[in-house]
Amino acid sequence: MMTKPGRFIVVEGLEGAGKSSAIATIRRWLQQRQLTVVCTREPGGTPLAEKLRTLVKQVDNTEILAPQTELLLMYAARVQLLSNVIRPALSRGDWVLADRHDMSSRAYQGGGRQLDEQLINNLRSTVLGNTRPDLTLYLDIDPAVGLSRAAARGELDRIEQEQLTFFVRTRQKYRQIAATEPDIITIDASQPLAQVQQAITEALQSHFAGHSDD
Ligand SMILES: Nc1ncnc2c1ncn2[C@@H]1O[C@H](COP(=O)(O)OP(=O)(O)O)[C@@H](O)[C@H]1O
Ligand SMILES: [Mg+2]
Repeated sequence: MMTKPGRFIVVEGLEGAGKSSAIATIRRWLQQRQLTVVCTREPGGTPLAEKLRTLVKQVDNTEILAPQTELLLMYAARVQLLSNVIRPALSRGDWVLADRHDMSSRAYQGGGRQLDEQLINNLRSTVLGNTRPDLTLYLDIDPAVGLSRAAARGELDRIEQEQLTFFVRTRQKYRQIAATEPDIITIDASQPLAQVQQAITEALQSHFAGHSDD
């Protein structure tokens, strides 16, 4: 008998939107259903991709990271994670729960950095293959609110140090993508945590209803 492939769930949103908190909620929900969960984060999630994460996030005052270099490093890390972690997990029948994935590049490098959409789309269709999220939960937050939540965490990394207008453009792109793609559910992340958790659970229930007996 063939193993039924697992499902791929992605959590997206600006810094401080509540992604890590959402991951914990989703993980519990899946584990309660006896599903094996593999958690990933981007950029990162493999030893090499974590090194790329460090390169992308570090504040380096000696050399400016060109926007296209940033884009390529993000996709290099993503390809590594897809090949070595995400695809093998899904083929084993495990569920993958991802803290950020491709939507982040579309929003940050496309919206925030204003890189050419054609370039990004060419890259996506060339290197991502046909592994696509089954469900993306986009946590929508005002960047000023998100950044103030994130700032409470400690020092800001290179991307977190961007101007507010960068995050305003990034959010705009996030919302634009979410509005046009049916497997992306937008959650109002400005609500109190309990309400966000409730909305997440409802989204999982409606999206994966009956998954265990299909
Ligand atoms: N709905 C919420 N309301 C208020 N604070 C929140 C909410 N969700 C998360 N937080 C807090 O905001 C901070 C950032 O949340 P986190 O889950 O780490 O966000 P992210 O992973 O998206 O950067 C944490 O201190 C977290 O406890
Ligand atoms: Mg986080």
